[in-house]
Amino acid sequence: MANWTTTARKASSAVLSVDTWLPETMPEYAQGFMYMLGSLTASSFVALIISGVILAANGPATWSYNGPMRFAAATHFWSVQAFFFFMMLHLWRVFFTGAWRGGRRETWLLGAVALIIAIPTAFTGFLINGDFYSQWNAVQAKDGLNALGLGWVNLPNAGQMFGMHVVVMPLVLSVIIFGHIVRVRMKGVVPPYPDHKVNDVKEGQ
Ligand code: HEM
Repeated sequence: MANWTTTARKASSAVLSVDTWLPETMPEYAQGFMYMLGSLTASSFVALIISGVILAANGPATWSYNGPMRFAAATHFWSVQAFFFFMMLHLWRVFFTGAWRGGRRETWLLGAVALIIAIPTAFTGFLINGDFYSQWNAVQAKDGLNALGLGWVNLPNAGQMFGMHVVVMPLVLSVIIFGHIVRVRMKGVVPPYPDHKVNDVKEGQ
């Protein structure tokens, strides 16, 4: 009879086995550049987190004036451009290869949720710049909420916005991206659609 140890052993071997995480072979169809886009998105996310931690650790007073901190801020900015750029290309790849097939529904959904959470995460980053541009964006966002009938939502002050951007949202996003990649490793990369042209010719014979 199955007990909790057996159940836990089975569940964890599907997630943690060496074969799951470090496969020695890769299907031929997954070797092209299109299949690297998810990893490029994930790499940009790592660069985002590292540069973000450096920025948060040194504080707002440093990143506007101090040379190395300007560099960290520029790295953070360009990492986010790369993150969204690669994520959109990755989205096209997974869409056009129908990558939700074969039990990959959760992978797809976790990816979609990551995209939805990434947008306000980036937006709160714009808002904590504190310059006229970010104040303008904050006013536009407030007008947007009002227009949607959400004017009753309490508007966060700068400190709350900072906390959301540097702690809450990145943590949530990290967990979701981790879950996404776990699912990808468990299921492997989706095989291409069957080649209907070849089959049609065969059937016609
Ligand atoms: C936070 C951003 C994302 C990261 C870091 C990420 C990362 C990855 C990685 C590393 C893979 C492995 C295969 C590959 O690289 O092509 C993958 C596969 C996949 N991703 Fe994403 N992804 C993200 C966003 C999305 C979005 C927005 C969707 C769709 C709504 C999505 C759906 C999928 C699916 C369905 C697969 C399985 C692919 C297959 O089996 O062929 N991902 N993702």
